[in-house]
Amino acid sequence: MILLGVNIDHCATLRQARYRESGRTVGANVEPDPITLAVLAERAGADGITVHLREDRRHIQERDVWRLRETIATRLNLEMACTPAMTEFAVKLQPDSVCLVPENRREVTTEGGLDVVCHEDRVRAVVDAMRATGIATSLFISPDEAQVELAAKLRSPWIELHTGAYAEACHSPERKTQFERLRRAAALAHRLELVVNAGHGINYVNIAEIRTLPHLHELNIGHSIMARALFSGIEEAVSELKRRMNPGQ
Ligand code: PXP
Repeated sequence: MILLGVNIDHCATLRQARYRESGRTVGANVEPDPITLAVLAERAGADGITVHLREDRRHIQERDVWRLRETIATRLNLEMACTPAMTEFAVKLQPDSVCLVPENRREVTTEGGLDVVCHEDRVRAVVDAMRATGIATSLFISPDEAQVELAAKLRSPWIELHTGAYAEACHSPERKTQFERLRRAAALAHRLELVVNAGHGINYVNIAEIRTLPHLHELNIGHSIMARALFSGIEEAVSELKRRMNPGQ
């Protein structure tokens, strides 16, 4: 059974569109509340909740993350940049896992993942700091052999394969090539004893193919769930996606 991590960043994006200037994140008329959304997503079958606390705080705020830590019943996965400030925050917060993601152009591979090869020392420092405090680390990388091999060498227990290039190519013959890249990267990661997650650009249509990737442990999905939730509500959006991820279960 493939697990679903629901990324709730865009619920906070909507709240911030109205309340950024006031600095308020909760109470009175402040809406929508991402923590309420997370609880409803869990009730509908989410296996974990993912948030990205960006350095520019464009959507999720620190207070949201602390409220989630106290509230949710599943796992909290914190996406973060590879910086000393975020490392310090994660050590205090004690999420169940962290996923290291790029936040500026220099840290990004051509396909959009964190360029572990170019930033080996910085990534190693965070992976080691997380291991020392018992937090599992995932690396959000493009599906390339060199990135996968280095993730294993750095002893990051998990990787998250960036599915953005595949999703972008969905209406072109390039899709097959991108799927094959993901398939090979997942197989290599599994041989190297990495847990294989994937995310970015996954939706209710391409899930039919993505779910056939070998060794998939968890998918992290945000945008398409939030978009569907606008029309059907979050619980229906989550349960429908889970049905499509694991048909017949
Ligand atoms: N995984 C990671 C590491 C992400 O940063 C994001 C958000 O871009 C996602 C998954 C979810 O992507 P999407 O919102 O396209 O589903």
